[in-house]
Amino acid sequence: MKDVLTVIRGEVGKKYPITVRVSATDYVKGGLFPKDIARMLQPLESELDAVHVSTGGLVPVQPNHIYPAYQVPQAAIIKQHLRVPVIAVGLIDNRSLADHIIQDQLADMIAIGRPLIEDPDFAAQLL
Ligand SMILES: Cc1cc2nc3c(=O)[nH]c(=O)nc-3n(C[C@H](O)[C@H](O)[C@H](O)COP(=O)(O)O)c2cc1C
Repeated sequence: MKDVLTVIRGEVGKKYPITVRVSATDYVKGGLFPKDIARMLQPLESELDAVHVSTGGLVPVQPNHIYPAYQVPQAAIIKQHLRVPVIAVGLIDNRSLADHIIQDQLADMIAIGRPLIEDPDFAAQLL
């Protein structure tokens, strides 16, 4: 992975941000947890500008319950173990929730998916 990132850095130059998207847990008992993913990312810290934290999708197991900001706890654990900015995503659909996540230092940035599909002006309305 480090070799791949080194090649990408060589292509894009020093000023272009390189981020990786990770699945912080597979929701399997005894499977992968955010600490495991953080440990895998630690040797790559110097190559990365941010880590974007999602969950699931590794095996056909779904989370038991999906609720607003449901992936933020995993992002926060990865943030605690890495010296790289962390992006949180997943049902973060209002300004106060996003503010809370940033102010409480659970993540450094917020990503938004479906609200932007529903309303292309969503981001502008947050300002
Ligand atoms: C229909 C659909 C397809 C998606 N496809 C991908 C994908 O290919 N790769 C990926 O990393 N995330 C994928 N995601 C996850 C989104 O990138 C995002 O993390 C997710 O929608 C949660 O953010 P949101 O609640 O703001 O939409 C998908 C989500 C949806 C709803």
